[in-house]
Amino acid sequence: MKKILVIHGPNLHLLGSRETKVYGKKTLADINRMLKALAKKNGVALDSMQSNHEGEIVDTIGNAKKNKISAILINPAAYTHTSVAIRDAVLAVDVPTVEVHLSNIYAREDFRHTSLIAPACFGQISGFGYHSYLLGLQAIMTLIKK
Ligand code: DQA
Repeated sequence: MKKILVIHGPNLHLLGSRETKVYGKKTLADINRMLKALAKKNGVALDSMQSNHEGEIVDTIGNAKKNKISAILINPAAYTHTSVAIRDAVLAVDVPTVEVHLSNIYAREDFRHTSLIAPACFGQISGFGYHSYLLGLQAIMTLIKK
């Protein structure tokens, strides 16, 4: 069975209470539950992790091939705009990766308009609330079925 890894970046453990006008009211557990259900329906396995630490995210991506991960769905959160290390990890590991954002990062402050990670990814989905994750997972499943 193919395995998909979902990586949630910093502060996403606070979803549900964090800036709900921007990020919505679903908790991270709600989102993970929906992703797991969609994956199961499509016959793929799905694991998720959340970390506030850049190095831990870099390590997780770096181990993806060894752990037989077929694809990565990532919301790098604030690291989207700052992390050369996460970008390089995605390029190094060569596992198809899709970037997602709950909010539309292009409709927000200027510093959020640049993603350092997106050019290393297959594509990016931004602005659909928790649906961004579900759309991202659909995209990944299409990719890995090819
Ligand atoms: C985010 C957007 C980022 O700019 C922000 O730092 C986040 C969440 C989103 O999902 O909309 O933490 O990645």
